[in-house]
Amino acid sequence: MPKPFEAVKLSDRVYWVGAIDWGIREFHGYSTTRGTTYNAYLVLDETPTLIDTVKAPFRDELMSRVASVIDPSEIRTVVSNHSEMDHSGSLPGVLREIDPEKVVASPMGVKALASHFPALDIVEVKDGETLSLGATTLTFYETRMLHWPDSMMCHLAGEGVLFSQDGFGMHLASEERFDDEIDPAVLGQEAAKYYANILLPFSPLVEKLLARVAGLDLEIRLVAPDHGPVWRKDIEGIVGSYATWAAQSPTRKAVVAYDTMWHSTAAMARAVGEGLSAGGARVHLAPLRSSTRSDVATEILDAGALVVGSPTMNNNLFPTVADLLVYLRGLKPKNLVGAAFGSYGWSGEAAGQAAGLLSEAGVELVEENLRVRYVPDERALSECRALGERVASRLPSADA
Ligand code: FEO
Repeated sequence: MPKPFEAVKLSDRVYWVGAIDWGIREFHGYSTTRGTTYNAYLVLDETPTLIDTVKAPFRDELMSRVASVIDPSEIRTVVSNHSEMDHSGSLPGVLREIDPEKVVASPMGVKALASHFPALDIVEVKDGETLSLGATTLTFYETRMLHWPDSMMCHLAGEGVLFSQDGFGMHLASEERFDDEIDPAVLGQEAAKYYANILLPFSPLVEKLLARVAGLDLEIRLVAPDHGPVWRKDIEGIVGSYATWAAQSPTRKAVVAYDTMWHSTAAMARAVGEGLSAGGARVHLAPLRSSTRSDVATEILDAGALVVGSPTMNNNLFPTVADLLVYLRGLKPKNLVGAAFGSYGWSGEAAGQAAGLLSEAGVELVEENLRVRYVPDERALSECRALGERVASRLPSADA
């Protein structure tokens, strides 16, 4: 009788034993429109080893997949590459079931897991430390702040697998386990969205990590992240994309994100977009009633400009615009120029507040914000168009 959930063989000794979350649509503020997976991996060697676990509600799925290839009680070592709860939530329950000899994590991971689960006994492994599993050997690499202080990756020599934790992952539910089994356009979209919303603030560390991994000259036949498919065909492509995204070189793309109360700021946004286009920019308008904060973050990943429009409501930014700008301030985008605009009826603070938050997010403001009282007439809309043209003139002459 087959197990309800079965392991998927990735290489001679490595199996995927994770879980598929088809229904999740919100992941701490990130809109996961295609669901996700929580990946865990089993290495069958003299020392059977489980690498990472899954979100707590999916423990049974993990255990079923493990039991499809090995008696779970034979697992002797568990590796926790990352203590965030989507990977460690089921750890206490899993450990109760399999009772391994050893659980290892990075030094910061030991501290984080001790805080989450005080009863657990976790052993630290240091950067560069190795652990022989028999025919294969794990080497651990700390990747602090990619994207938590505890984060680490590990490489399995003998099988050529880099267990990259959140790195190179994406939120994408699928029964297919390998990159070459999934539409490349979907992979590109979801990998970019993941980078923009999770890793963007840590881009300088991504650049250092890519240089370090290249210098290690590891044999890497598979890159196995903690979300989404395992990379086996286009490893070079995803690594190249990470280098591009980390550099955030400005392009001729401009994003106009806005919300509106009575269509005045929306009319201004359309005119700004026309001006940007007339100035030679590739334009993406993101009305915040139909674009999430994580959609906008993804759009600016390959942009050179961000222009934000907000009506004033009760002396303040419109709430959706405030939400977006606070989110973007945390993501710390680089190399963007921008401006703010908005309509108002009484006092008109919103455009100035938007400009302030754009500046705090690291966006270089092209000029003072543009405000229009009540409804923009033709002249006001021409001013919006001119603003778009001036922002476009600050973009590089050609895409990087
Ligand atoms: Fe997938 Fe940072 O957890």
